[in-house]
Amino acid sequence: MHIGSSEISTNIFLAPLAGVADLSFRLIAREAGAKFAFFEMIDCNSMIHAGKDKDILQLHSEDLPIAAQLLGADPDDMLAAAKILLQKVSPTFLDINSACPVRKVVGKGSGAQLMREPVRLWAIIEKLASNLDLPITVKLRVGFKQIDLEDLARIAQGCEERGAAALFVHGRTRDQLYHGQVNYEAIKTVKDSVNIPVFGSGDIFSAELAKKMLVETGCDGALVARGALGNPWIFKEIEHYLATGERLPEPTLEEKKTVLLRHLSYIQQYRHSRPTSKMGLMRKHALCYVKKIPYSAKFRQNITGLKDPSSLIKKIIEIFDGVQEK
Ligand SMILES: Cc1cc2nc3c(=O)[nH]c(=O)nc-3n(C[C@H](O)[C@H](O)[C@H](O)COP(=O)(O)O)c2cc1C
Repeated sequence: MHIGSSEISTNIFLAPLAGVADLSFRLIAREAGAKFAFFEMIDCNSMIHAGKDKDILQLHSEDLPIAAQLLGADPDDMLAAAKILLQKVSPTFLDINSACPVRKVVGKGSGAQLMREPVRLWAIIEKLASNLDLPITVKLRVGFKQIDLEDLARIAQGCEERGAAALFVHGRTRDQLYHGQVNYEAIKTVKDSVNIPVFGSGDIFSAELAKKMLVETGCDGALVARGALGNPWIFKEIEHYLATGERLPEPTLEEKKTVLLRHLSYIQQYRHSRPTSKMGLMRKHALCYVKKIPYSAKFRQNITGLKDPSSLIKKIIEIFDGVQEK
């Protein structure tokens, strides 16, 4: 698979996930089979003015190859931010976020708002593609309030004409946020209207759903997002299923416990946030891994008030070992 001049060894990527896919999460995903990932999204204003990228742009030799994503509304600001970013890291490509549904983001003219103002989106693409020496890509939604396939095709074609090297398409409108059905027909419309690679995004929670995305849309690849939460093995599962048509066995409880504990140790090692927010993140991920095992509801209650990592780790060991003894 090629994006611009860059060759990438997989067509199944770990999606950009702000607040989730930090270095600790990406390292765990890569150990379990992910071959390509995104840094968390970076707001171009915080890149230019505040240098708030300390955690976001953390580099690690095991966390490559990787893409970066910028959020912004103004072509000059986006270029200024991209230049600062490229002094710090060397991503395989740089993505423009035209998908973020958050009200504050949309209110500032960036994220999914760019779907309503494609002329500005195209100007950003043109600015970055003509001034930077790496492929520029775009993450789109399939609409803002509703889906207009003709308009969507026009937006996608405009992105290609201004220099986009690939498109990532979340098959929901901005107003759907993360709920409701993914519209495969709309993603297919994007795929059919351009010649650059198109990746589908939305509800890739299993190997079968990854295949469905590729088959129904004709897309060149897919982004795994929420499906990787508590399930970093999904990348290997998808790859195996696409190659053989067979499912890999579920990871054992012992493996789940080991990987979860390693994930928490990476959070402790790599996050620079306050202890309370680190603990919040650790609890959040622990719940994702434990979700499908017996007694998970009790586990949720038991960890709600926990304030220090060692008591959380103790509870995790208790629940996994308790389940295994039954
Ligand atoms: C917590 C969270 C954070 C996200 N952050 C970003 C982001 O920073 N940039 C982006 O383009 N998409 C972001 N997304 C959207 C995902 O990349 C993906 O397109 C979307 O979740 C649909 O895929 P899914 O249904 O498989 O989760 C985020 C989604 C979630 C749930």
